[in-house]
Amino acid sequence: RRKIIIDCDPGHDDAIAILLAAASPKVELIGITTVAGNAEVDKTTINALKVCEIAGLHEVPVAKGAGQPLVRKRETAPDIHGDSGMDGPMLPEPTKTIVEEHAVDFIIRELLQSDGDITLVPTGPLTNIAMALRKEPAIAPKIREIVLMGGGTFGNWTPAAEFNIYVDAEAAKVVFESGVPIAMFGLDLTHQALATPEVQKRIREIGNPVSDFVEELLQFFMQTYKEVFGFDGAPIHDACCVAYCIDPSVFTCRKLHVDIETKGEFTYGMTVVDTLGTTGKEPNAHVALELDIDKFWNLMINALTFYTEK
Ligand code: BDR
Ligand code: CA
Repeated sequence: RRKIIIDCDPGHDDAIAILLAAASPKVELIGITTVAGNAEVDKTTINALKVCEIAGLHEVPVAKGAGQPLVRKRETAPDIHGDSGMDGPMLPEPTKTIVEEHAVDFIIRELLQSDGDITLVPTGPLTNIAMALRKEPAIAPKIREIVLMGGGTFGNWTPAAEFNIYVDAEAAKVVFESGVPIAMFGLDLTHQALATPEVQKRIREIGNPVSDFVEELLQFFMQTYKEVFGFDGAPIHDACCVAYCIDPSVFTCRKLHVDIETKGEFTYGMTVVDTLGTTGKEPNAHVALELDIDKFWNLMINALTFYTEK
């Protein structure tokens, strides 16, 4: 079983990523850490706890992390995720509380104690991961892989930049220059993981409390994607990272060099992907380019069906 820590900002698709991980025998979710992103960190933390509650993840520690990007002023995404960061479903207040340790210290301790077999799965801005790498550089060789959602060859926050990278591009730069193996799931890939009305119907038909929760998440998320981008569906970005940890054969990737733009007037937060090798720089990321759509949704439907028997 592949050990993972999900570092997230739930977030409709972050929530689905957690639920997918919790249902799979192929991964072991050893912790959830939270960061400011879709909403302020207090909100994303409550949301993470609520997801744990509904998934029955009573033993998985949740550690709260950074409330502000490294350098820039915080930006959140209420137009897409609502004011709470996870608007739509009504969930009871969670019974579980966070651990006392800060997310950055949690990540460092887990990695240092490990045999080098932990994968980090960041599905929000990269603030916590960059802070951990800076605070304890000895973790770098201990990280099996960083499987992150971010970037792409087009943007959804600016024409050039995807939200997670844009919100803390300085942090993203630290991560991409760390030398740690990276798998990057950018918008080119995640927009192929589009929850359409047909997918929504399949999920509705499962009919257990967790699939009902996901269906309610989709109702809200698909509505905002319609309003903001005119899409007939919503990309379940963050779940792609978890799907990769479960079954990498769902994706076609290429090893490429990726730089993070932190200075551009129009391009701040852009992932500059060297597709044709013009820089001559060594590849630093496995860039996911193509999704096996059927395999992906079957994985998801199976995971949600698992909660019927649980
Ligand atoms: C990313 O930003 C957030 O809105 C989503 O949760 C995802 O992680 C997509 O750009
Ligand atoms: Ca996210």
